[in-house]
Amino acid sequence: MSEQLLEKIKRLKDERRAVILAHNYQPGEIQDLADFTGDSLGLSIKAAETDAEVIVFCGVQFMAETAAILSPEKTVLLPDKFAGCPLADMITAEQLDKLKREHPDALVVCYVNSSAEVKAESDYCCTSANAVEVVNSLPKDKRIIFVPDQHLGRFVVEKTGRNLVLWPGYCVTHVVITEEDTKNTKARYPDAIVMAHAECTEPVKELSDEILSTSQMLHYAKKSTAKQFIIATETGIIHTLKKQNPDAEFIAASDRAICPNMKRISLEKVVWSLEDMQYKVTVPDKVRTKAKKALDRMVEILPAE
Ligand code: 13P
Repeated sequence: MSEQLLEKIKRLKDERRAVILAHNYQPGEIQDLADFTGDSLGLSIKAAETDAEVIVFCGVQFMAETAAILSPEKTVLLPDKFAGCPLADMITAEQLDKLKREHPDALVVCYVNSSAEVKAESDYCCTSANAVEVVNSLPKDKRIIFVPDQHLGRFVVEKTGRNLVLWPGYCVTHVVITEEDTKNTKARYPDAIVMAHAECTEPVKELSDEILSTSQMLHYAKKSTAKQFIIATETGIIHTLKKQNPDAEFIAASDRAICPNMKRISLEKVVWSLEDMQYKVTVPDKVRTKAKKALDRMVEILPAE
């Protein structure tokens, strides 16, 4: 069955001159069929660079929107229109506008997990891979508003020593990984390296050896001589970690860390998306041009190696 679907996707992809981009949290079979998999920064760079006519974005709404902002001449398709991001929905442009009026001298840095409207109201965008570098690049005397993820925000405060104005947003999938989960998993695998995403809560990050974006986790595991890793992020990434490092063991800090939105994408929906050219993700020009400025600045600032 899946062989037939894969054949169909290959044929439709050629017909449509399409490229398939998939986030590291996607179901394994989607990561395997994609032309490119990556973290939010890598996917944004790819979306801006590709010369395909159609981008099928296997991820969530804000990722497809980012591709539509960076590549307005391309058709961007999201195979499931309900694949949203609760974290991105935790701040609206109106709420950000109010915060800006409370701090009129501040620059705004928004995490890429945000709506196009929020990006349009921001000066800089960042991902978990380059948030520290983006904040460090800003003038030392400037106040900075950082939205919407409080946990990534606190990580940036710790790394930069800057006093950010934070928003109380959080990723519902990452906060289910508890301190207790992490302690228990560490007790079972005392020699394992713990890699955590910056969206995890502070106690989980304190128990971790490395705080990395999803693609940085993949690079780290490839270069490391360690044979056991505890992974404190959405469990979808374990598929590729295992594939790329067959001799190592990867253990989820919590089996409950599954993003239901990322898992909405399936082979069947990718076929249908290419057949019917659905769901097209577009951003109105007025919002797009403003949001693009914040995104262009983000894509220019790469994380330190
Ligand atoms: P990465 O940019 O590290 O892949 O993170 C994306 C994300 O949405 C985390 O929840």
